[in-house]
Amino acid sequence: KTMQIGIDKLGFDTTPLYLDLNDLAKARDVDPNKYLIGIGQAKQAVIPPTQDIVTMGASAAEQILTETDREHLSTVIVATESGIDNSKAAAIYIKHLLKLNDYVRTIEMKEACYAGTAAIQFARGLISLHPDEKVLVITADIARYGLNTSGEVTQGGGAVAMMISANPHVLAIEDPSVSYSQDIMDFWRPLYATDALVDGKYSTNVYIDFFKATLERYQQKTNRKLEDFTALVFHLPFTKMGKKALEAVLQDRDDDTAARLRANLTHSQKLNREVGNLYTGSLYLSLISLLVNTDLTAGQRIGLFSYGSGAEGEFYAGILQPDYQKYVAGDTIKTLLHKRSKVTVAEYERLFNQQLGFTKADTKLDVAADSSKYVLVGIKDQQRIYK
Ligand code: CAA
Repeated sequence: KTMQIGIDKLGFDTTPLYLDLNDLAKARDVDPNKYLIGIGQAKQAVIPPTQDIVTMGASAAEQILTETDREHLSTVIVATESGIDNSKAAAIYIKHLLKLNDYVRTIEMKEACYAGTAAIQFARGLISLHPDEKVLVITADIARYGLNTSGEVTQGGGAVAMMISANPHVLAIEDPSVSYSQDIMDFWRPLYATDALVDGKYSTNVYIDFFKATLERYQQKTNRKLEDFTALVFHLPFTKMGKKALEAVLQDRDDDTAARLRANLTHSQKLNREVGNLYTGSLYLSLISLLVNTDLTAGQRIGLFSYGSGAEGEFYAGILQPDYQKYVAGDTIKTLLHKRSKVTVAEYERLFNQQLGFTKADTKLDVAADSSKYVLVGIKDQQRIYK
């Protein structure tokens, strides 16, 4: 009963390219402050056709995978809404690229941006039955709304990898968690579509309703107050969304707790501002952002709000562990973002349209143009080929 289970390590990967949202604002004839302040995004990952959830997921996982992990790994779960096949799990491709041993279970999970949290909860269940085993959860997505759409400024992409184990080094997940779901059409992507359909304003309102509903129920169950949290981290489809949600529960409060939660929200938004929406990975990139930009103390409680359109929300909390900094690849992540190259709006539009989508024809992609370790080489006989 006293066994702690949670996030043992965190890794992150995105593409080597980004778009400066000042440039996008100019091209779309919008005041840059709408994007930088109103939406709260500064840059957006640009996805070349040679990158997808498999390549980014493999790179993120490789950052945190040791020999011991490989020996104890029972399961790889890829949580995504950017699947590359309607049947076969992306986890199998990743398992192959990472040369994991064959005695491992590989699956994919889906519920919009929420599925990463579902994967973590499933992993906790597996580990409580088999405490020696580890589960690799990879959240990977590419957010696409289309050129010249109102969602365009909230695109992005990348992957967060998490090792879930007993006696975790980063965050021991507590009970209870509160899940909440309703059949709602705020954002969806029919099987024939490469870009998401969205009722934008409505989606932000549903997000806030779900946050309030899950937090309220959590507080009823635990008697915990906002005072009991060092930080609240949020799914960040764009960073302003976190501010909207936090302010919805702070309601003009102006005390120490409110000041602390606001300051830590700012830290938790920093990396997301540079990358954009990762769908399933956004909440966990925000957690990384909090951990690498602050100096928190072991024993402190962090609340997490996960949201996926359609819609499903979950609020849960975890306790920070001693020396957690050593298990979050902070320097690697900062270097990775620092080394990205900026592309022009014209180049971004060209790459956006080059995504393979529903192509059936044999295709060879320009892999020499992509410096990433893992790349999609192309399509042969209707099969995706990776290297
Ligand atoms: N300076 C500063 N701020 C400015 C400004 C300026 N010059 N001009 C406008 N703004 C502000 C506006 O006041 C507004 O702020 P508030 O939201 O705080 O009122 C903000 O910029 C956005 O402007 P609009 O209200 O005009 O918004 P929009 O029509 O451009 O659409 C959006 C914004 C709805 C987020 C749209 O980008 C969208 O649909 N995005 C995709 C959907 C999405 O991310 N939904 C989030 C919840 S769903 C979810 O979380 C799952 C998921 O990942 C998709």
